[in-house]
Amino acid sequence: MAKPILVANWKNYPSSQEEARTILSALSRKSTLYKKLSLFIAPPLPYLDLVSTRAKSFSRLASQDLPTLAKGTFTGEVMPDILKSFGVRVAILGHSERRALGETSEIVAQKVKVALRAGIVPVVCVGEESRDQEGEHFDFLRQQIKHSLSGLSKQAVSSLIVAYEPVWAIGKNAKEAIGPVDLAESVIFIRKVLSDLFGRNVAESVPVLYGGSVDAKNSEALAQTSGLRGFLVGRASLNPKSFEAVASSLL
Ligand code: PGA
Repeated sequence: MAKPILVANWKNYPSSQEEARTILSALSRKSTLYKKLSLFIAPPLPYLDLVSTRAKSFSRLASQDLPTLAKGTFTGEVMPDILKSFGVRVAILGHSERRALGETSEIVAQKVKVALRAGIVPVVCVGEESRDQEGEHFDFLRQQIKHSLSGLSKQAVSSLIVAYEPVWAIGKNAKEAIGPVDLAESVIFIRKVLSDLFGRNVAESVPVLYGGSVDAKNSEALAQTSGLRGFLVGRASLNPKSFEAVASSLL
């Protein structure tokens, strides 16, 4: 059986190298636990080297974004080749906080292609902004998946990861996060859309993660979801105790 996947999205935290070192020391004390998972840490870019050095034995590096082009001169961008040379293996793409800044699904699709060409595994984030009784959020999700993966071959889609991150559940407390029943329904729906677009074999092989207020209180229940391969965790990934609980719930 393939290992569960856990992605730590540090966003723009911690606010100093010192704090980052403290978190990494705490994580490394639980390295035996983390080695049982495919753990990826996505720190702010200036901490790449620090994370790579201190967490090498039990995790791999992820980036929180990629540029839309693989080659060229673009002041301010960090190109995939540079990220790869630091050991970045995975990239979170289309995170809702980037979509909120104007990133469209078409741009996400471009970034997915850049990642795959560079040999970086895309973690493509999708998720509705709100849920409604009529199920209109499913149409939204279908369109977002379709456009974020447009122009990709079946083979390309089989090499990526999908993270279901309903926007309304991000940055809340555990009680306000998604419940296991709704999560199970969404995971089935995502697989159905992937199957309609790329065939059943591809749909079954793509790992689906959940992200949105995962923490020590709800991870155990959410981890039971059939067909779910792991979590993409924001705030709880910066708290070693909570993160340890989340990691354990996947085993
Ligand atoms: P959260 O963030 O776990 O803090 O809700 C998740 C995410 O934004 O990826």
